[in-house]
Amino acid sequence: MFFKKKKQTVATVDERLKHIAFIMDGNGRWAKKRSMPREFGHVNGAKNFKKVIRYCGDKGVKIITVYAFSTENWKRPKNEVDAIMKLLSDYIDDAVAMVDENNIQLHFLGDMSIFPPETRAKIANAEEVSKDKTLILNIALNYGARAEIAHACEVLINNGKTAVTEEDVSSALYTAHCDDPDLIVRTGGDLRLSNFLLWQAAYAEFYFTDTLWPDLDEREIDKIIDEFYSRKRRYGGL
Ligand code: FPP
Repeated sequence: MFFKKKKQTVATVDERLKHIAFIMDGNGRWAKKRSMPREFGHVNGAKNFKKVIRYCGDKGVKIITVYAFSTENWKRPKNEVDAIMKLLSDYIDDAVAMVDENNIQLHFLGDMSIFPPETRAKIANAEEVSKDKTLILNIALNYGARAEIAHACEVLINNGKTAVTEEDVSSALYTAHCDDPDLIVRTGGDLRLSNFLLWQAAYAEFYFTDTLWPDLDEREIDKIIDEFYSRKRRYGGL
């Protein structure tokens, strides 16, 4: 007689899965399926973002990175861009207000020079007041990986470097404060990186799902984590 083996679910993660990065795709389609404007998808995407952060943090993940707004996303209609910016701004206000309860150390990855001084001050303040917290949350905002690498080169040149190591480049990226992602998850069905963490993704595992971002739930996150633990990471060795 055969008994079906219960599927293993990893209760808490260890140092093998310190950092998960998410490409939160599919908000627009999620709204369209409900005959609602795209902004409605982003509102629900932002709600789910908070749930996912909490769940991953509870699982013991130490670093979470999300792709919130790319350098290309400015091409979207103004009302959609404004809606995403408002959600981000509201999130920063909440995160600062709840900094002790949530234990989140905020970082913004990207070129912040595009934002007006008051927005930059708000971002800098959120990073400053959360700097002693232990769950690192990187929000990629006006972010593009090629621009990030070019910016890192510029930083190194300005520092007088004439020879450059991989460590030098890593230390000049927006992610200098944290380890590279172990796992990159993309929702929404597309099988590409879309200019996200190109340097940092060198040894990451990838997980692509058709699930639209607002629908990514705890059960699927458990499944993704189980899948991660079933893979063998060889880093080019045997
Ligand atoms: C991609 O879905 C999503 C975005 C470009 C924006 C992501 C923004 C949020 C989740 C809300 C704000 C974020 C935070 C951190 C509070 P899409 O619009 O490209 O979806 P589609 O492919 O179905 O059109």
